[in-house]
Amino acid sequence: MSLRYLTALLSLLVSTQAYAQQNPLSVPSTGPQDVNFTRLFSNEIIFADTWKKDTWNGLTTFARAQPLRCFGTEAEVPFDVAVLGAPFDIATSYRPGARFGPNGIRQGGRRLGIDRINVPMKIRASDHLEIVDCGDVPMVLIENKVALRQLELANKALLARSSLRSYQDASIAKDGKFHPRVLTLGGDHTITLPLLRGVAEIYGPVSVIHFDSHLDTWKPRPAEDSPWLPGEEMPVSHGNYFYYAHKEGLLGPDNSNIHVGIRGALNSWDDYDDDYEVGFIISHADELEDIGWKGVVQKIRDTVGDNPVYITVDIDVIDPGMAPATGTPEIGGITTREIKKILQGLSGLKIVGADIVEVAPAYDTQDEITQIAAANIGWDLLALMAKAPLVV
Ligand SMILES: *[C@@H]1O[C@H](CO)[C@@H](O)[C@H](O)[C@H]1NC(C)=O
Repeated sequence: MSLRYLTALLSLLVSTQAYAQQNPLSVPSTGPQDVNFTRLFSNEIIFADTWKKDTWNGLTTFARAQPLRCFGTEAEVPFDVAVLGAPFDIATSYRPGARFGPNGIRQGGRRLGIDRINVPMKIRASDHLEIVDCGDVPMVLIENKVALRQLELANKALLARSSLRSYQDASIAKDGKFHPRVLTLGGDHTITLPLLRGVAEIYGPVSVIHFDSHLDTWKPRPAEDSPWLPGEEMPVSHGNYFYYAHKEGLLGPDNSNIHVGIRGALNSWDDYDDDYEVGFIISHADELEDIGWKGVVQKIRDTVGDNPVYITVDIDVIDPGMAPATGTPEIGGITTREIKKILQGLSGLKIVGADIVEVAPAYDTQDEITQIAAANIGWDLLALMAKAPLVV
């Protein structure tokens, strides 16, 4: 021990003692003086009295949103945003497990609160939106088409309702009314097809901002490629749902849709032509280096214009170093800080719906890194919704 350290220690002791002598409150304490433990551990204090009514919430919901039986006994309760789980992963090409995504994301969001201030977004979502968690849609585990149909019907049922809040200005919905928005927790990426059917029915074709490392616009492989299933219709999967969305007229016209973070391998250079035909512009992950997040934001805003926007986030857009638990990880991804900056840059866009997909918790680290990233992105999406009511 150095002399200097010893001197410092001594003077600290002396000054503490001097302080103790001056201050009658600093007598050595044996515990909190005003707590009556006899009373505390008696049955005089009723358990429920010690919590405020709105503090108690035993269920793990997304960012502590109110849990609601949206399809059951509380079907009449109005809200502005529904969080909806879509436990589906039977159209995955590589690692399955996203059926556990919804609860994984809720678990990752336990420190978040819809009533807490999102500092960079400068907003508290609950000041502007009544947000509820409707739990998960029952989706069968053996047949894609049936499962996706279940989700489609559930999502449409929520969207068809009137939202709690309405506004003076005209609504952008085709029927002129104000409808709730849905933030869906996937699920593999195939779920975006039935979800787009829902928003397109209410708002018409929507411009999609698609965060992903893969294009997901691939044509279903022609049946002649597969001698095993001659004449079989190739099913919708998590790599081709946008092809179907385009065929069904759900996507914004004139290439007003954009992929962000692309870096996956291609089957052929023609994939880019097919992608353009489906209606997308591409921002590759590399662009974060070349034009920065501001450049990417500008490109997104130039692409979608004033259209109603649907945001879909495949968690594999984030680098596997920060989000390893995905169906199809690709190195060289964007960082959580970058996606937060990009989302902040989208303030004011009319977000009619959003999803976060491909979180497969079984591959996550013990510290839940992917689930935490996904939950925080979802929280930012709610902030974006809070910033822009769906008015003309
Ligand atoms: C502590 O609480 C018990 C039970 O209510 C009570 O009988 C006792 O008087 C209290 N003691 C003091 C010091 O207030």
